[in-house]
Amino acid sequence: MDHHVFRYGGELCDLVVRRAAGASLYGPDGREVLDFTSGQMSAILGHSHPEIVATVRNAIAELDHVHSSLLSEPVLRFTEALSGILPESLSKVLPLCTGGESNDAALRMAKMTTGGFLVVAFDRSWHGVTGGAASGTFNGARQGYGPTLPGALALPTPDAYRSPFVTNGDYHWRDELEFGFQMLDRQSVGRYAAVIAEPILSSAGIIELPPGYLQALKGKCTERGMLLILDEAQTGLGRTGDRFAFEHEGVVPDILTLSKTLGAGLPLSATVTSAAIEQSCYDQGYLFYTTHAADPLPASVGAKVIEIIVRDALSERARKLGIYMKEQLLALKQRHEPIGDVRGRGLLLGVELVEDRRSKTPANELGARVSRRCLALGASLNIGRRSMGSVFRIAPPLTVTRDQIDTAVSILDQALTECAG
Ligand SMILES: Cc1ncc(COP(=O)(O)O)c(C=O)c1O
Repeated sequence: MDHHVFRYGGELCDLVVRRAAGASLYGPDGREVLDFTSGQMSAILGHSHPEIVATVRNAIAELDHVHSSLLSEPVLRFTEALSGILPESLSKVLPLCTGGESNDAALRMAKMTTGGFLVVAFDRSWHGVTGGAASGTFNGARQGYGPTLPGALALPTPDAYRSPFVTNGDYHWRDELEFGFQMLDRQSVGRYAAVIAEPILSSAGIIELPPGYLQALKGKCTERGMLLILDEAQTGLGRTGDRFAFEHEGVVPDILTLSKTLGAGLPLSATVTSAAIEQSCYDQGYLFYTTHAADPLPASVGAKVIEIIVRDALSERARKLGIYMKEQLLALKQRHEPIGDVRGRGLLLGVELVEDRRSKTPANELGARVSRRCLALGASLNIGRRSMGSVFRIAPPLTVTRDQIDTAVSILDQALTECAG
């Protein structure tokens, strides 16, 4: 297609969206396409949720933007609402716009508080494209831009499907974690700051941390005086069946970053930490002063998103619908040989396509064909690129209906039959 848009991430899709509502997108000809990626994994309330529409209308009319040194009522409301649904130790909120920003802010907090600068991330991590976040992003996108920040170190992604630490079907993730930290300690110049991690690695292909892993990781951090930063850009606010994915493991991070789902598709992110870390940063002159830090309009949206998630028990809904949808996808796996693995929890599910189940070679071409066919049949099911293999990341809005799930699964079924059959 001929257009004036800079291609910021490879090939852009041919679908030109005219309108979106609920879990559906509509093209120029009015054709409906189910949005099973919630936009960019963000629109958890569906598109144009009436209460969000009203909130934005009101905010733009009443209080849109202020100088970054000014507090505003929506910001006080939003930060109180967010800390109100988090453990007591996560009580100080820095409101920003994007996920990358929230992670950069977190890394600066960790560096200032610990005095260290070494940052550890999974070797298939994605934390954003801004400076610090990009340095801790190992899932491709590193080549061609010169040096990253010094001190970026990688830990093996605990991937139960592909790890070399799987023997006879048993996954020895503790050995892998031990091995990872032995490597880190040998490389370390002794000034650790933080580990940054997602509780379910989304861009890596929906990799759930094994049960107990997060607790063990936290232990490794504590031993070394490092902070644990959890990036819940995609897992936060109910998507995985818990309000926050860290609750599943009973591990509270030192710093939590939220984005994507926090604004339910509008640009709002937050870096949340303890009063002690906030005080330490403040005392040392911490600065993360951006044009849109603590902006009232997105904060109004964030307060409303939290209200709706809690009031409508959407994490519970995600848990139940996730169980239902995973069953349907596992049934597809019985019938379609190219489906090597189905994983994830809540409404953050992954379907990995392989050339054959023994070699597990990623079926990249097939994945691209199936994804295109799904779109033509009426479901936007995004296939991952970069180093993650050929994995559909399935993440509909938490307001999706069972009927819509059935339709999307049957479209995937048909596309697999046509493309692989
Ligand atoms: C886990 C995670 N963190 C951070 C980011 C970066 O967010 P943004 O693109 O809003 O900067 C992403 C984006 O995909 C993400 O998936």
